[in-house]
Amino acid sequence: MSKTISAKSPAQLTEKQAEKELARLAREIAEHDKRYHAEDAPVISDADYDALRQRNTAIEAQFPQLIREDSPSLRVGVAPLEKFEKVTHAKPMLSLGNAFSAEDVEDFSDRVRRFLNLKDQDLIIVAEPKIDGLSASLRYESGSFVLGATRGDGQVGENVTLNLRTIADIPKKIKSKAFPPVFEVRGEVYMSHKDFAALNVRHEQDGKQIFANPRNAAAGSLRQLDSKITASRPLRFFAHGWGEVSSVPGETYWDVLKFMEDCGLPINPLIKRCESVEEILKVHSDIEVKRSTLDYDIDGMVYKVDRLDWQDRLGFVSRAPRWAIAHKFPPEQAVTVLNDIEIQVGRTGALTPVAKLEPITVGGVVVSNATLHNEDEIERKDIRVGDTVVVQRAGDVIPQIVRVVTEERKKKSKPFAFPEVCPACGSHAVRELNAKTGKLDAVRRCTGGLICPAQAVERLKHFVSRNAFDIEGLGDKQVEAFWQEGLIKEPADIFTLAQRDARGEFTLSDWEGWGEKSVTNLYRAIEDRRTIELERFVFGLGIRHIGETTARLLAKTYGSAEEFIAALEKSGDQAGPAYQELLSVDGIGETVAEAVAEFFAEAHNRDAVDRLLEQVRPQAFEAPNEESPVTGKTVVFTGSLEKMTRNEAKARAESLGAKVSGSVSKKTDIVVAGPGAGSKLTKAQELGVAVMSEDEWLDLIEGG
Ligand code: IVH
Repeated sequence: MSKTISAKSPAQLTEKQAEKELARLAREIAEHDKRYHAEDAPVISDADYDALRQRNTAIEAQFPQLIREDSPSLRVGVAPLEKFEKVTHAKPMLSLGNAFSAEDVEDFSDRVRRFLNLKDQDLIIVAEPKIDGLSASLRYESGSFVLGATRGDGQVGENVTLNLRTIADIPKKIKSKAFPPVFEVRGEVYMSHKDFAALNVRHEQDGKQIFANPRNAAAGSLRQLDSKITASRPLRFFAHGWGEVSSVPGETYWDVLKFMEDCGLPINPLIKRCESVEEILKVHSDIEVKRSTLDYDIDGMVYKVDRLDWQDRLGFVSRAPRWAIAHKFPPEQAVTVLNDIEIQVGRTGALTPVAKLEPITVGGVVVSNATLHNEDEIERKDIRVGDTVVVQRAGDVIPQIVRVVTEERKKKSKPFAFPEVCPACGSHAVRELNAKTGKLDAVRRCTGGLICPAQAVERLKHFVSRNAFDIEGLGDKQVEAFWQEGLIKEPADIFTLAQRDARGEFTLSDWEGWGEKSVTNLYRAIEDRRTIELERFVFGLGIRHIGETTARLLAKTYGSAEEFIAALEKSGDQAGPAYQELLSVDGIGETVAEAVAEFFAEAHNRDAVDRLLEQVRPQAFEAPNEESPVTGKTVVFTGSLEKMTRNEAKARAESLGAKVSGSVSKKTDIVVAGPGAGSKLTKAQELGVAVMSEDEWLDLIEGG
């Protein structure tokens, strides 16, 4: 398990510790999400990632009052690329919670039973393979396929209709008379092993990109701007759900699957209807055995409550339905030799060790790098260069080293000596002492700051990255080349490139790999970014601990670049009002506040920001519209409820943005009182708080 998971069980944590850990988890998970979704460059395994999320959920369950506004459990992935038109999903495309053991599956079944208050009734569950592809939504109107979208961040995806129309499995017209006038099919786009291998052979011959695995190949193929390219890629589709529908053609999930199949939509042939947890687990192990003989990748099973009325009652909790769960297969492993340990220097000076492996196939993919996380991890596992190691890969993230095969260790091998100087600039690399915990930071950092070329380049790469300034045509490679030539040293320099080129200081179109057209496009892309959303600007500064979510929070808090800079320049004085104001922002803790204060305390950072502001105009922050009549309201349920359980009521209210509290105070906005309500009702009346019945409440939230 990752080093970043604390050993204490959530119940052992004090509230303060829990708060701190939730803050750290939010930050880490956001960072991993960014690396996975936006940069396609994950640094931890799926299993470690899942462990972080699980830990977050477990602590939140123990301390619901501490759930953060930027909690990872309220988010799925990150925003889509901007190349395609955006599509707002009529119904969000959500994610699934995970189960890793038979016990987790039992817990799932127990939770469902408790929530629905089931006594002796059977709980039918449909078990189906979890296809390792990418999800898509297909909208049919009057039987015609009219709009197709990727999931994106779950709320807004990309319009890939033309590309989806090239997939032979997807009917363009559905003739069945019973097909509802509006029907959004949800499912998975994937590529078969055979097709994947043939595609890579073809690409190798033509000197084109080789894909790491079928999932990457499917994703790369679906997100082509030219649908002719997609058409030449053999994609397939399995339906596994639906979004907006004018009417649901069945009372159970199973019925609707059969209906979709009759309408010509492809349904996975291994789907089973199960009557008990034992049966589910049997299907899981049967399919796990069968897994290697299937011609497509699956990474687990998905279990779904069959009765749709029960699904409705169960609803969603943050990013995932309560009526479904993914039961993952254990990750695949292989044995190989560790040839070297390379140290990479990141944007904030963190020294990250990367294992260079003798290439080996793990679960059908050739692996030559693995993550080693940090110094302690290497020491804990006593990983040495030359060792024979067990490598594990789950999904398409960077693999990790599980353990050393010590029996095979060479006699002369020595423990790995982690460098104490930065490999890029030779400055001391230190592990800071965390004043609050009294412990050494897990990460060793280069102290070279501005003189460290590795940090400077990484900061520039961050600045132009997708979630920051997102300058098309200016990727990692180009940033490195400009840096090498001494043309960009800080962000502001990017915006003077065109001018300097025109003045004849250099001629980009003479460089290898650059033609007139690509130069014009690059300068236009840079020009386009002179106007920039405030949160991108803040995120782009690359301040330590400021991920996208915090950047957004800061943008929301200060509203404009002027306010932001003015306030934060004063925040260096940690006893002063500016620092205290920053700390009082909900969602900003000491770590972030200190990082911001430290950043602005440095004159060279302030100067670099000033120079950047001479070039760009950050837009004032625009708050999105509120969505429901109860968003932001504090609600108390009291007395007995007749149409739903207390849990269900709470969950629904929260999913609409309300805060549910257990006691009535001046801050309460609404008290929903059922028969038998007592002191809470009296108190509400005394305080003049709005009181309504369960039916009135339902009318309000259902827009009646
Ligand atoms: S149901 C609201 N069923 O897994 C729940 N998802 O980890 C919707 N996936 O985003 C998901 N096979 O892309 C479902 N048989 C299956 C699936 C499946 C693969 C993907 C899907 C989803 C992701 C969640």
